[in-house]
Amino acid sequence: MKILVVGTGAREHAICQALHEEADLYSLMSNQNPGIARISQFKIGSEMDIQGVKKHALNLGVDMVVIGPEAPLEHGIVDTLNEAGIPCVGPTQEAARIETDKAFMRDLFAKYKVPGSIAYGVFDGVDDAAEFIDDFGEDVVVKPVGLTGGKGVKIVGEHLKHSEDAKSYVKEIIDKKIGGHASVVIEERLVGEEFTVQALVDGDNLVPMPAVQDHPHAYEGDQGPITGGMGSYSDKNGLLPFLDQKNYDASVKVMEETVKAVKKEVGPYKGVLYGQFMLCRDGPRLVEYNARFGDPEAMNVLPLLETSMLELCQGVIDGNIKKAQFKRQATVCKYLVPNGYPDSGKPGQPIHVDEEKIHAEGGMVFYAAVNQKNNEVLTTGSRALAVVTTADDLQDAEERCERATKFVEGDLYHRSDVGTRQLIEKRIQHMQEIRG
Ligand code: GLY
Repeated sequence: MKILVVGTGAREHAICQALHEEADLYSLMSNQNPGIARISQFKIGSEMDIQGVKKHALNLGVDMVVIGPEAPLEHGIVDTLNEAGIPCVGPTQEAARIETDKAFMRDLFAKYKVPGSIAYGVFDGVDDAAEFIDDFGEDVVVKPVGLTGGKGVKIVGEHLKHSEDAKSYVKEIIDKKIGGHASVVIEERLVGEEFTVQALVDGDNLVPMPAVQDHPHAYEGDQGPITGGMGSYSDKNGLLPFLDQKNYDASVKVMEETVKAVKKEVGPYKGVLYGQFMLCRDGPRLVEYNARFGDPEAMNVLPLLETSMLELCQGVIDGNIKKAQFKRQATVCKYLVPNGYPDSGKPGQPIHVDEEKIHAEGGMVFYAAVNQKNNEVLTTGSRALAVVTTADDLQDAEERCERATKFVEGDLYHRSDVGTRQLIEKRIQHMQEIRG
């Protein structure tokens, strides 16, 4: 079976790693990711050049294409490939609106009464939005309707001091069309602990994966600017120390109801659905969806997969996906990122990775924003690489992961607190406080 994976980062490295022993693997990436390059036959090209991807897939005669990132989904890569007779793991442009159009997502929840929804309004006028903020009377979250690479969401009490700042940000979004639309979604601010549930979806059925918690803040103790995610952990029972089975099941139910609603509204959703939830006092609420695996969260779940990834991908395409088995192990993932990231991570800096020593700690390396040139691995400015460990318990996985990070040299930093007992205790305590 010939498979083409589209995308350049650590998420795509993890997808390729899960597939390479089962398939004749090809990849298309925008620069040379050394991890993907060594396990696939690669071509350097833009993942946004949809006609170029189609031509390459047709020339290779691949049996399926797996799309890693969201941007080509937004531009209809799956529709184009499907029209050319090439099946894909990834939703159509319309179905991907669950991520790419935040107004579509909230309106879908309201129309189909999907559980886990929240108070919100969608506005293309500054005055109406300001009136909503005043009437609501509590802290809000302001989101551009379109994609902003995770950098467009601003929360009163965190990034915005008060409601007047929220109104100014609304005006900026509308005036500058941030995210590609002169339109904003204003939502109630949720209080709780965030977590991720990812699932493969065949149009009707979901294969949910172990829950994961990411760490978006750049610095230890959840300080500093929001990033793409500095690291993540999962526990051996598929739950999280602050998330029980009942609330995990409730989250999966939200995703199942969403998939039904998407089918009725725009046609079947086939691909990966990433649900970001807030566990609130009264249960999980949906913060947002992504139409792809999470980065870093893909690196927690895919190494645990015992079921064939190839069979799961085929099930997505054929509409008959079967249940998946995951190893009962804890995982910890820590991202190493260039000093200055996320504001000014320096590109072109060499890094050296002693993979043998990392493997000796039971660790794996997933390369992200790096480029391999003449046997050197150079940063490109964003998150450089992730070290991931699996073990029988979280403490062991975290300690191994921390030791393994020492075998990466470069002008880099990481959050050593990800997955530590101290930080996990803080999460548990936070949930206890919220529940009173
Ligand atoms: N972990 C955040 C994301 O994948 O968007």
